[in-house]
Amino acid sequence: MQGNFIYHNPTKLYFGEDAMNHLIDELKNYGPTVMLSYGGGSIKRNGIYDAVVAALKTAGKTVVEDAGVMPNPTYEKVQEGCQLVRENKVDLILAVGGGSTIDYAKGVSASAYCEEEPWEKYWVKQGNPTCQTVPVGSVLTMVGTGSEMNGGSVITNRKAGFKLGKVFGPALYPKFTILNPRFTMTVPQYQMVAGFFDIMSHLMEQYFAGKADCTTDYINEGLMRSLIHATRIAAKNPQDYEARANIMWTATWALNTLLKCGKGGDWEVHQIGHAIGLVTDATHGMTLASVSLPYYRLVMHDGLHQFVRFAQNVWGVRPEGKSDEQVASEGLACLENWMKEIGVVMNSSELGVTEENLQQVVDAVLILPVGYRTLTRDEVVYILRQSMSGPRAN
Ligand code: NZQ
Ligand code: ZN
Repeated sequence: MQGNFIYHNPTKLYFGEDAMNHLIDELKNYGPTVMLSYGGGSIKRNGIYDAVVAALKTAGKTVVEDAGVMPNPTYEKVQEGCQLVRENKVDLILAVGGGSTIDYAKGVSASAYCEEEPWEKYWVKQGNPTCQTVPVGSVLTMVGTGSEMNGGSVITNRKAGFKLGKVFGPALYPKFTILNPRFTMTVPQYQMVAGFFDIMSHLMEQYFAGKADCTTDYINEGLMRSLIHATRIAAKNPQDYEARANIMWTATWALNTLLKCGKGGDWEVHQIGHAIGLVTDATHGMTLASVSLPYYRLVMHDGLHQFVRFAQNVWGVRPEGKSDEQVASEGLACLENWMKEIGVVMNSSELGVTEENLQQVVDAVLILPVGYRTLTRDEVVYILRQSMSGPRAN
């Protein structure tokens, strides 16, 4: 293990089919006014809204409705939420939904009483709150981002021309999260497999960095193997509870800061994905899927030892009689086959990247000086062009 780190994750998790039973007790820890934040209405169709409102009523709360958090939540929406919080003196923001709703809730929490311009302070300058913040709790309905147990808040600001992530400290993590795998059963197949790839991407972003022998990598490999196994089952049979439960648990551990202990991290795939998301509003996990193989094939030679390890320990590639390059390439071929098997989008043209908007995407990519190679702007163009001619869905 290298470096110094602090591991502190204060989010309390309630996992399983009965997890919702704990919501009423949790609500007792907060003041009388709860802002119920949710997305475009899926929770009304699948009954989760009714269950949450029943718990809020039993706990005697005044509910402030905050509907319409969109996928890839916008800064404008965050500002609307801030106004609701101030007007109603909200004591708890209860985010019911996927990563977008939970990310949004954290953004509102940090921004509602911020005396500076929040976009500049948090997302551009990566500052930390110095004002009062509002506690956030969450009920997760879509698996992938890990937002349920981390400080991430990814916000799209089209006026500024960026989709940027801010990782807040533990004070902004959800205080509690209800994780009931059954709640995710109504997620459409497209969103579901996008979430599956998002998890894999979080694992790979943290795995492909550093050279040291590190316990964290062994944990990561175990999570990848569980994910690959369970997603193969769930992609064919989304109602398989065991598989969906394992995937939900894996997603939470994939991005709750455990896997960055002793590791540097890469995160360039996410930067390119965010730029595609900004320009096309495409689903987050699919943006990552469309650029991952071109990116990893480009940087493979710079981090060859880790790509060899990935091939052997995650995919079971046998090394006998093969060069390191051959083993590493076989590992990436296995990744490609799994992506095709679960049915993610691997072609960014299908997500709306065109010759006309390509430059806008390129300009919006943040190039991070981490991972095995710091990209040049020309390499970003190369990766995007490769992704535009990637395999098309049948
Ligand atoms: O809005 P509703 O009607 O609820 O529909 C949502 C939405 O259309 C639907 N959905 C969610 N749960 C459902 C359901 N439909 C039926 N049944 C259910 N149970 O799914 C759609 C997508 O939801 P969304 O929350 O946007 O998906 P996801 O969880 O993938 O979140 C994506 C956002 O999170 C950010 C992404 O950039 C993107 O903005 N990320 C956040 C991270 C973090 N906090 O650490 C890290 C990630 O890398 C990521 O960047
Ligand atoms: Zn992600």
